[in-house]
Amino acid sequence: MSRFAEPQDPVFREMNTSLGFDRRLWRQDIRGSRAHARMLAARGIIGEDDLAAILRGFEQIEGELERGEFPFEPDDEDIHMAVERRLTALVGDPGARLHTARSRNDQVATDVALWVGEATERAVTAIETLMGALIDVAQAHRDWPMPAYTHLQRAQPVYLAHHLLAYVWMLERDRARFRFAGEQALRRMPLGAGALAGVNFDTDRTMTAAELGFGEPAPNSIDAVSNRDFVLDYLSAAATCATHLSRLGQEIVQWASEEFGFLTLPDAWSSGSSLMPQKKNPDCAELLRAKAPRIVGHLQALHGVIHALPLTYNKDLQEDKEHLFDAADTIEQALAAAAGMISGATFRADRMAAAAADELLAATDLADALVQRGVPFRQCHAIVGGLVREAVESGRTLSQLSDEELTARSEHLGPWIRELLEPLSLLERKQSQGGTASARVTEQLTLARALLA
Ligand code: ARG
Repeated sequence: MSRFAEPQDPVFREMNTSLGFDRRLWRQDIRGSRAHARMLAARGIIGEDDLAAILRGFEQIEGELERGEFPFEPDDEDIHMAVERRLTALVGDPGARLHTARSRNDQVATDVALWVGEATERAVTAIETLMGALIDVAQAHRDWPMPAYTHLQRAQPVYLAHHLLAYVWMLERDRARFRFAGEQALRRMPLGAGALAGVNFDTDRTMTAAELGFGEPAPNSIDAVSNRDFVLDYLSAAATCATHLSRLGQEIVQWASEEFGFLTLPDAWSSGSSLMPQKKNPDCAELLRAKAPRIVGHLQALHGVIHALPLTYNKDLQEDKEHLFDAADTIEQALAAAAGMISGATFRADRMAAAAADELLAATDLADALVQRGVPFRQCHAIVGGLVREAVESGRTLSQLSDEELTARSEHLGPWIRELLEPLSLLERKQSQGGTASARVTEQLTLARALLA
Protein backbone atom coordinates (compact mmCIF):
# COMPACT_ATOMS: atom_id res chain seq x y z
CA MET A 1 0.00 0.00 0.00
CA SER A 2 1.14 3.50 -0.53
CA ARG A 3 -0.24 6.99 -0.55
CA PHE A 4 -1.03 6.77 -4.27
CA ALA A 5 -3.93 5.01 -5.95
CA GLU A 6 -2.86 5.83 -9.52
CA PRO A 7 0.44 5.48 -11.34
CA GLN A 8 2.29 8.60 -12.43
CA ASP A 9 1.39 10.10 -15.77
CA PRO A 10 4.19 9.16 -18.20
CA VAL A 11 4.87 12.78 -19.10
CA PHE A 12 5.22 13.75 -15.44
CA ARG A 13 7.31 10.71 -14.74
CA GLU A 14 9.70 11.64 -17.54
CA MET A 15 9.90 15.19 -16.22
CA ASN A 16 10.36 14.18 -12.60
CA THR A 17 12.95 11.49 -12.99
CA SER A 18 16.57 12.55 -12.63
CA LEU A 19 18.24 9.19 -13.00
CA GLY A 20 19.41 10.02 -16.53
CA PHE A 21 21.82 12.58 -15.12
CA ASP A 22 22.16 11.98 -11.39
CA ARG A 23 23.51 8.47 -11.86
CA ARG A 24 26.82 10.31 -12.00
CA LEU A 25 26.46 10.70 -8.22
CA TRP A 26 26.58 6.98 -7.50
CA ARG A 27 30.03 6.95 -5.93
CA GLN A 28 29.14 9.83 -3.61
CA ASP A 29 25.80 8.20 -2.84
CA ILE A 30 27.39 4.92 -1.77
CA ARG A 31 30.08 6.74 0.19
CA GLY A 32 27.48 8.77 2.06
CA SER A 33 25.32 5.71 2.71
CA ARG A 34 28.20 3.66 4.07
CA ALA A 35 29.08 6.44 6.51
CA HIS A 36 25.43 6.78 7.50
CA ALA A 37 25.08 3.02 8.08
CA ARG A 38 28.24 2.88 10.20
CA MET A 39 26.95 5.73 12.32
CA LEU A 40 23.52 4.10 12.73
CA ALA A 41 25.21 0.91 13.92
CA ALA A 42 27.61 2.78 16.23
CA ARG A 43 24.60 4.42 17.88
CA GLY A 44 22.68 1.13 18.12
CA ILE A 45 19.97 2.42 15.77
CA ILE A 46 20.56 -0.59 13.53
CA GLY A 47 22.29 -3.83 14.50
CA GLU A 48 25.88 -4.81 13.70
CA ASP A 49 24.47 -7.63 11.60
CA ASP A 50 22.39 -5.08 9.65
CA LEU A 51 25.52 -3.05 9.04
CA ALA A 52 27.45 -6.09 7.84
CA ALA A 53 24.65 -6.96 5.40
CA ILE A 54 24.45 -3.36 4.14
CA LEU A 55 28.20 -3.14 3.57
CA ARG A 56 28.17 -6.50 1.80
CA GLY A 57 25.35 -5.27 -0.42
CA PHE A 58 27.24 -2.08 -1.27
CA GLU A 59 30.30 -4.12 -2.21
CA GLN A 60 28.28 -5.86 -4.88
CA ILE A 61 26.39 -2.74 -6.01
CA GLU A 62 29.64 -0.87 -6.43
CA GLY A 63 30.97 -3.61 -8.68
CA GLU A 64 27.78 -3.63 -10.72
CA LEU A 65 27.87 0.13 -11.23
CA GLU A 66 31.57 0.07 -12.01
CA ARG A 67 31.05 -2.57 -14.69
CA GLY A 68 27.89 -0.97 -16.06
CA GLU A 69 25.89 -4.04 -15.00
CA PHE A 70 23.66 -2.41 -12.41
CA PRO A 71 20.06 -3.46 -13.11
CA PHE A 72 18.27 -0.11 -13.30
CA GLU A 73 14.48 -0.37 -13.33
CA PRO A 74 11.89 1.83 -15.02
CA ASP A 75 10.57 2.94 -11.64
CA ASP A 76 13.93 4.24 -10.41
CA GLU A 77 13.30 7.95 -9.99
CA ASP A 78 16.82 8.91 -9.08
CA ILE A 79 20.15 7.30 -8.22
CA HIS A 80 19.40 7.40 -4.48
CA MET A 81 16.22 5.36 -4.86
CA ALA A 82 17.80 3.00 -7.36
CA VAL A 83 20.72 2.15 -5.05
CA GLU A 84 18.48 1.71 -2.03
CA ARG A 85 16.04 -0.48 -3.99
CA ARG A 86 18.87 -2.68 -5.21
CA LEU A 87 20.37 -2.90 -1.74
CA THR A 88 17.08 -4.08 -0.31
CA ALA A 89 16.65 -6.56 -3.16
CA LEU A 90 20.10 -7.96 -2.39
CA VAL A 91 20.16 -8.03 1.42
CA GLY A 92 16.51 -7.72 2.48
CA ASP A 93 15.45 -5.97 5.69
CA PRO A 94 18.84 -4.50 6.62
CA GLY A 95 18.70 -2.62 3.30
CA ALA A 96 15.25 -1.36 4.16
CA ARG A 97 16.64 -0.03 7.48
CA LEU A 98 19.31 2.14 5.83
CA HIS A 99 17.02 5.10 5.26
CA THR A 100 16.38 5.47 9.01
CA ALA A 101 17.18 8.99 10.32
CA ARG A 102 17.79 10.30 6.84
CA SER A 103 15.81 11.84 3.98
CA ARG A 104 16.65 12.19 0.32
CA ASN A 105 16.79 15.91 1.01
CA ASP A 106 19.87 15.75 3.24
CA GLN A 107 21.19 12.81 1.25
CA VAL A 108 21.20 14.56 -2.13
CA ALA A 109 22.66 17.79 -0.72
CA THR A 110 25.47 15.73 0.82
CA ASP A 111 26.14 13.79 -2.37
CA VAL A 112 26.26 16.94 -4.50
CA ALA A 113 28.58 18.61 -2.00
CA LEU A 114 30.95 15.63 -2.13
CA TRP A 115 30.81 15.73 -5.93
CA VAL A 116 31.62 19.44 -5.99
CA GLY A 117 34.54 18.83 -3.63
CA GLU A 118 36.02 16.33 -6.08
CA ALA A 119 35.23 18.46 -9.14
CA THR A 120 37.09 21.43 -7.67
CA GLU A 121 40.15 19.23 -7.17
CA ARG A 122 40.02 18.17 -10.82
CA ALA A 123 39.63 21.78 -11.91
CA VAL A 124 42.58 22.89 -9.79
CA THR A 125 44.74 20.16 -11.34
CA ALA A 126 43.66 21.12 -14.86
CA ILE A 127 44.36 24.80 -14.14
CA GLU A 128 47.82 23.94 -12.86
CA THR A 129 48.54 21.92 -15.99
CA LEU A 130 47.62 24.92 -18.13
CA MET A 131 49.63 27.30 -15.93
CA GLY A 132 52.62 24.99 -16.31
CA ALA A 133 52.20 24.86 -20.09
CA LEU A 134 52.01 28.66 -20.33
CA ILE A 135 55.08 29.07 -18.12
CA ASP A 136 57.08 26.63 -20.26
CA VAL A 137 56.09 28.40 -23.47
CA ALA A 138 56.87 31.77 -21.86
CA GLN A 139 60.29 30.50 -20.75
CA ALA A 140 61.06 29.31 -24.28
CA HIS A 141 60.14 32.74 -25.73
CA ARG A 142 61.58 34.94 -23.03
CA ASP A 143 63.05 37.59 -25.30
CA TRP A 144 60.74 37.55 -28.32
CA PRO A 145 59.36 41.07 -28.87
CA MET A 146 55.78 41.52 -29.99
CA PRO A 147 53.38 44.44 -29.91
CA ALA A 148 50.86 44.61 -27.11
CA TYR A 149 47.56 46.26 -27.89
CA THR A 150 44.94 48.53 -26.44
CA HIS A 151 41.73 48.86 -28.46
CA LEU A 152 43.38 46.23 -30.70
CA GLN A 153 45.66 49.03 -31.91
CA ARG A 154 49.39 48.50 -31.51
CA ALA A 155 50.34 50.20 -28.27
CA GLN A 156 53.75 49.26 -26.85
CA PRO A 157 56.17 46.41 -27.45
CA VAL A 158 56.42 43.63 -24.86
CA TYR A 159 58.08 40.23 -24.71
CA LEU A 160 55.86 37.29 -25.68
CA ALA A 161 56.70 35.71 -22.31
CA HIS A 162 55.24 38.72 -20.54
CA HIS A 163 52.01 38.46 -22.52
CA LEU A 164 51.65 34.72 -21.92
CA LEU A 165 52.36 35.10 -18.21
CA ALA A 166 49.39 37.49 -17.93
CA TYR A 167 47.19 34.40 -18.34
CA VAL A 168 49.08 32.60 -15.57
CA TRP A 169 48.06 35.28 -13.07
CA MET A 170 44.43 35.09 -14.23
CA LEU A 171 44.51 31.33 -13.79
CA GLU A 172 46.04 31.66 -10.36
CA ARG A 173 42.96 33.66 -9.32
CA ASP A 174 40.73 31.01 -10.92
CA ARG A 175 42.49 28.35 -8.90
CA ALA A 176 41.77 30.30 -5.71
CA ARG A 177 38.09 30.57 -6.69
CA PHE A 178 37.80 26.83 -7.28
CA ARG A 179 39.54 26.13 -3.99
CA PHE A 180 37.08 28.41 -2.26
CA ALA A 181 34.16 26.55 -3.88
CA GLY A 182 35.62 23.25 -2.69
CA GLU A 183 36.03 24.57 0.85
CA GLN A 184 32.46 25.81 0.88
CA ALA A 185 31.14 22.47 -0.36
CA LEU A 186 32.94 20.53 2.34
CA ARG A 187 32.58 22.99 5.17
CA ARG A 188 29.25 21.95 6.70
CA MET A 189 27.66 18.57 6.16
CA PRO A 190 23.93 18.43 5.35
CA LEU A 191 23.61 14.70 6.17
CA GLY A 192 21.55 14.09 9.29
CA ALA A 193 19.36 17.14 8.81
CA GLY A 194 16.59 14.75 7.76
CA ALA A 195 13.79 16.14 5.63
CA LEU A 196 14.26 19.62 7.12
CA ALA A 197 13.80 19.63 10.90
CA GLY A 198 16.29 17.07 12.19
CA VAL A 199 15.50 13.44 13.00
CA ASN A 200 13.93 11.51 15.86
CA PHE A 201 17.05 9.46 16.60
CA ASP A 202 20.14 10.02 18.68
CA THR A 203 22.52 10.24 15.74
CA ASP A 204 26.22 11.17 15.72
CA ARG A 205 26.68 13.65 12.89
CA THR A 206 30.21 14.46 13.98
CA MET A 207 31.12 10.88 13.20
CA THR A 208 29.66 10.96 9.67
CA ALA A 209 31.16 14.40 9.00
CA ALA A 210 34.61 13.12 9.96
CA GLU A 211 34.29 10.03 7.79
CA LEU A 212 33.11 12.02 4.77
CA GLY A 213 35.69 14.77 5.12
CA PHE A 214 33.35 17.62 6.06
CA GLY A 215 34.45 20.30 8.51
CA GLU A 216 31.43 19.93 10.78
CA PRO A 217 27.75 18.97 10.75
CA ALA A 218 25.59 21.80 9.41
CA PRO A 219 24.21 23.54 12.54
CA ASN A 220 20.85 24.38 10.96
CA SER A 221 18.82 21.58 9.39
CA ILE A 222 16.70 24.01 7.36
CA ASP A 223 19.71 25.66 5.78
CA ALA A 224 21.35 22.27 5.29
CA VAL A 225 18.66 20.94 2.93
CA SER A 226 18.03 24.30 1.20
CA ASN A 227 21.62 25.25 0.52
CA ARG A 228 23.15 24.96 -2.95
CA ASP A 229 25.47 27.96 -2.59
CA PHE A 230 28.47 25.71 -3.10
CA VAL A 231 27.13 24.84 -6.55
CA LEU A 232 26.78 28.56 -7.30
CA ASP A 233 30.35 29.03 -6.06
CA TYR A 234 31.58 26.25 -8.35
CA LEU A 235 29.66 27.62 -11.35
CA SER A 236 30.88 31.10 -10.62
CA ALA A 237 34.50 29.95 -10.51
CA ALA A 238 33.96 27.99 -13.72
CA ALA A 239 32.26 30.93 -15.45
CA THR A 240 35.12 33.32 -14.67
CA CYS A 241 37.72 30.74 -15.65
CA ALA A 242 35.93 29.98 -18.93
CA THR A 243 35.70 33.70 -19.61
CA HIS A 244 39.48 33.93 -19.21
CA LEU A 245 39.93 31.04 -21.63
CA SER A 246 37.69 32.82 -24.12
CA ARG A 247 40.13 35.73 -24.15
CA LEU A 248 43.04 33.34 -24.76
CA GLY A 249 40.98 31.63 -27.47
CA GLN A 250 40.28 34.93 -29.19
CA GLU A 251 43.94 35.96 -29.11
CA ILE A 252 44.95 32.62 -30.60
CA VAL A 253 42.36 33.04 -33.37
CA GLN A 254 43.84 36.44 -34.17
CA TRP A 255 47.45 35.33 -33.93
CA ALA A 256 46.80 32.31 -36.17
CA SER A 257 45.35 34.49 -38.94
CA GLU A 258 47.62 35.47 -41.82
CA GLU A 259 46.86 39.11 -40.99
CA PHE A 260 48.66 38.73 -37.67
CA GLY A 261 50.72 35.66 -38.51
CA PHE A 262 52.12 35.42 -34.99
CA LEU A 263 51.72 31.69 -34.64
CA THR A 264 51.00 28.44 -36.41
CA LEU A 265 48.79 25.94 -34.65
CA PRO A 266 49.76 22.29 -34.48
CA ASP A 267 47.81 20.05 -36.90
CA ALA A 268 46.56 18.06 -33.91
CA TRP A 269 44.67 21.13 -32.70
CA SER A 270 43.37 22.43 -36.05
CA SER A 271 40.67 21.47 -38.52
CA GLY A 272 40.36 21.65 -42.28
CA SER A 273 37.58 22.99 -44.44
CA SER A 274 35.26 20.65 -46.32
CA LEU A 275 35.43 22.96 -49.31
CA MET A 276 38.60 25.05 -49.29
CA PRO A 277 41.64 22.77 -49.45
CA GLN A 278 44.07 25.45 -48.25
CA LYS A 279 42.30 26.08 -44.94
CA LYS A 280 43.72 25.28 -41.51
CA ASN A 281 41.21 26.56 -39.05
CA PRO A 282 41.68 27.41 -35.35
CA ASP A 283 38.43 25.65 -34.39
CA CYS A 284 39.73 24.70 -30.97
CA ALA A 285 40.50 28.32 -30.10
CA GLU A 286 37.10 29.39 -31.43
CA LEU A 287 35.39 26.79 -29.27
CA LEU A 288 37.32 28.04 -26.22
CA ARG A 289 35.78 31.41 -27.02
CA ALA A 290 32.26 29.98 -27.28
CA LYS A 291 32.31 27.66 -24.26
CA ALA A 292 32.39 30.59 -21.86
CA PRO A 293 28.83 31.85 -22.41
CA ARG A 294 27.59 28.29 -22.03
CA ILE A 295 29.04 28.06 -18.53
CA VAL A 296 27.93 31.58 -17.66
CA GLY A 297 24.47 30.44 -18.78
CA HIS A 298 24.58 27.56 -16.30
CA LEU A 299 25.48 29.97 -13.51
CA GLN A 300 22.69 32.30 -14.49
CA ALA A 301 20.22 29.39 -14.72
CA LEU A 302 20.99 28.20 -11.20
CA HIS A 303 20.67 31.71 -9.84
CA GLY A 304 17.25 31.66 -11.48
CA VAL A 305 16.36 28.32 -9.88
CA ILE A 306 17.26 29.51 -6.40
CA HIS A 307 15.85 33.00 -6.82
CA ALA A 308 12.91 33.52 -4.44
CA LEU A 309 12.76 29.80 -3.68
CA PRO A 310 11.02 29.39 -0.35
CA LEU A 311 12.71 27.30 2.33
CA THR A 312 13.29 24.43 2.56
CA TYR A 313 13.75 21.70 -0.06
CA ASN A 314 11.80 22.17 -3.29
CA LYS A 315 12.04 19.95 -6.33
CA ASP A 316 13.39 22.95 -8.21
CA LEU A 317 16.71 22.08 -6.58
CA GLN A 318 16.94 18.94 -8.69
CA GLU A 319 17.72 21.34 -11.53
CA ASP A 320 21.14 22.06 -10.02
CA LYS A 321 22.73 18.95 -11.44
CA GLU A 322 22.67 19.25 -15.20
CA HIS A 323 24.07 22.77 -14.95
CA LEU A 324 26.78 21.61 -12.58
CA PHE A 325 27.73 18.52 -14.54
CA ASP A 326 27.84 20.22 -17.91
CA ALA A 327 29.82 23.14 -16.52
CA ALA A 328 32.35 20.75 -14.97
CA ASP A 329 32.72 18.69 -18.15
CA THR A 330 33.04 21.83 -20.23
CA ILE A 331 35.62 23.63 -18.09
CA GLU A 332 37.76 20.52 -17.63
CA GLN A 333 37.78 19.94 -21.39
CA ALA A 334 38.48 23.61 -22.16
CA LEU A 335 41.42 23.73 -19.74
CA ALA A 336 42.94 20.57 -21.21
CA ALA A 337 42.44 21.84 -24.76
CA ALA A 338 44.00 25.22 -23.99
CA ALA A 339 47.07 23.49 -22.52
CA GLY A 340 47.45 21.18 -25.52
CA MET A 341 46.99 23.94 -28.05
CA ILE A 342 49.36 26.44 -26.46
CA SER A 343 52.07 23.82 -25.89
CA GLY A 344 51.98 22.80 -29.54
CA ALA A 345 51.84 26.27 -31.10
CA THR A 346 54.79 27.50 -33.13
CA PHE A 347 55.36 31.20 -32.67
CA ARG A 348 56.71 33.24 -35.57
CA ALA A 349 59.51 35.45 -34.29
CA ASP A 350 59.89 37.29 -37.61
CA ARG A 351 56.25 38.34 -37.83
CA MET A 352 56.03 39.42 -34.21
CA ALA A 353 59.35 41.29 -34.38
CA ALA A 354 58.28 43.08 -37.57
CA ALA A 355 55.07 44.24 -35.91
CA ALA A 356 56.95 45.24 -32.76
CA ALA A 357 59.43 47.26 -34.81
CA ASP A 358 56.67 49.73 -35.70
CA GLU A 359 58.26 52.98 -34.54
CA LEU A 360 54.97 54.51 -33.56
CA LEU A 361 55.06 52.16 -30.57
CA ALA A 362 57.81 54.41 -29.23
CA ALA A 363 55.56 57.46 -29.00
CA THR A 364 55.09 57.22 -25.24
CA ASP A 365 58.80 56.70 -24.72
CA LEU A 366 59.55 59.75 -26.81
CA ALA A 367 57.15 61.81 -24.74
CA ASP A 368 58.76 60.48 -21.54
CA ALA A 369 62.23 61.35 -22.88
CA LEU A 370 61.06 64.94 -23.41
CA VAL A 371 59.72 64.96 -19.84
CA GLN A 372 63.22 64.03 -18.69
CA ARG A 373 64.46 67.09 -20.62
CA GLY A 374 62.17 69.29 -18.55
CA VAL A 375 59.12 69.62 -20.82
CA PRO A 376 55.75 69.24 -19.01
CA PHE A 377 54.10 65.91 -19.95
CA ARG A 378 50.98 67.39 -21.60
CA GLN A 379 53.16 69.46 -23.94
CA CYS A 380 55.29 66.41 -24.70
CA HIS A 381 52.14 64.47 -25.60
CA ALA A 382 51.16 67.19 -28.07
CA ILE A 383 54.66 67.54 -29.56
CA VAL A 384 54.95 63.80 -30.20
CA GLY A 385 51.36 63.63 -31.49
CA GLY A 386 52.33 66.25 -34.08
CA LEU A 387 55.45 64.31 -35.05
CA VAL A 388 53.43 61.13 -35.51
CA ARG A 389 50.94 62.94 -37.72
CA GLU A 390 53.75 64.42 -39.83
CA ALA A 391 55.34 61.01 -40.29
CA VAL A 392 52.07 59.17 -41.03
CA GLU A 393 50.82 61.82 -43.46
CA SER A 394 54.09 61.86 -45.39
CA GLY A 395 54.34 58.07 -45.47
CA ARG A 396 57.54 57.97 -43.40
CA THR A 397 58.63 56.51 -40.09
CA LEU A 398 59.62 58.71 -37.16
CA SER A 399 63.32 58.08 -37.67
CA GLN A 400 63.02 59.21 -41.30
CA LEU A 401 62.01 62.72 -40.25
CA SER A 402 64.87 65.17 -40.80
CA ASP A 403 66.71 66.91 -37.98
CA GLU A 404 65.16 70.22 -39.15
CA GLU A 405 61.66 68.75 -38.98
CA LEU A 406 62.39 67.52 -35.49
CA THR A 407 63.70 70.80 -34.12
CA ALA A 408 60.90 72.71 -35.85
CA ARG A 409 58.49 70.80 -33.54
CA SER A 410 60.53 71.38 -30.40
CA GLU A 411 63.98 72.70 -29.58
CA HIS A 412 64.27 69.70 -27.23
CA LEU A 413 64.04 67.17 -30.08
CA GLY A 414 67.11 66.08 -32.02
CA PRO A 415 68.94 63.18 -33.65
CA TRP A 416 69.11 61.40 -30.26
CA ILE A 417 65.55 60.17 -30.75
CA ARG A 418 66.63 57.65 -33.42
CA GLU A 419 68.43 55.47 -30.88
CA LEU A 420 65.45 55.56 -28.61
CA LEU A 421 63.24 54.25 -31.42
CA GLU A 422 64.97 50.83 -31.42
CA PRO A 423 62.34 48.32 -30.21
CA LEU A 424 64.73 46.52 -27.87
CA SER A 425 65.68 49.71 -26.13
CA LEU A 426 61.98 50.42 -25.62
CA LEU A 427 61.46 47.03 -24.04
CA GLU A 428 64.49 47.09 -21.83
CA ARG A 429 63.62 50.50 -20.41
CA LYS A 430 60.41 49.04 -18.88
CA GLN A 431 62.35 48.23 -15.73
CA SER A 432 59.62 48.92 -13.21
CA GLN A 433 58.34 46.07 -11.06
CA GLY A 434 55.97 43.95 -13.14
CA GLY A 435 57.28 45.55 -16.35
CA THR A 436 58.37 43.82 -19.54
CA ALA A 437 62.19 44.37 -19.34
CA SER A 438 63.92 40.97 -19.54
CA ALA A 439 65.22 41.13 -15.97
CA ARG A 440 61.67 41.69 -14.74
CA VAL A 441 60.26 38.91 -16.92
CA THR A 442 62.89 36.51 -15.57
CA GLU A 443 61.93 37.55 -12.06
CA GLN A 444 58.27 37.00 -12.95
CA LEU A 445 58.96 33.53 -14.35
CA THR A 446 60.42 32.58 -10.98
CA LEU A 447 57.36 33.93 -9.18
CA ALA A 448 55.06 32.10 -11.60
CA ARG A 449 56.91 28.81 -11.11
CA ALA A 450 56.64 29.24 -7.36
CA LEU A 451 52.85 29.26 -7.74
CA LEU A 452 53.11 25.63 -8.80
CA ALA A 453 55.66 24.53 -6.23
N1 ARG B 1 16.33 13.73 -7.16
C1 ARG B 1 16.14 14.69 -6.11
C2 ARG B 1 17.08 15.86 -6.33
O1 ARG B 1 17.95 15.73 -7.12
C3 ARG B 1 16.43 14.05 -4.80
C4 ARG B 1 15.72 14.64 -3.64
C5 ARG B 1 14.28 14.33 -3.71
N2 ARG B 1 13.65 14.69 -2.50
C6 ARG B 1 12.33 14.80 -2.45
N3 ARG B 1 11.81 15.13 -1.34
N4 ARG B 1 11.60 14.61 -3.51
O2 ARG B 1 16.93 16.92 -5.74
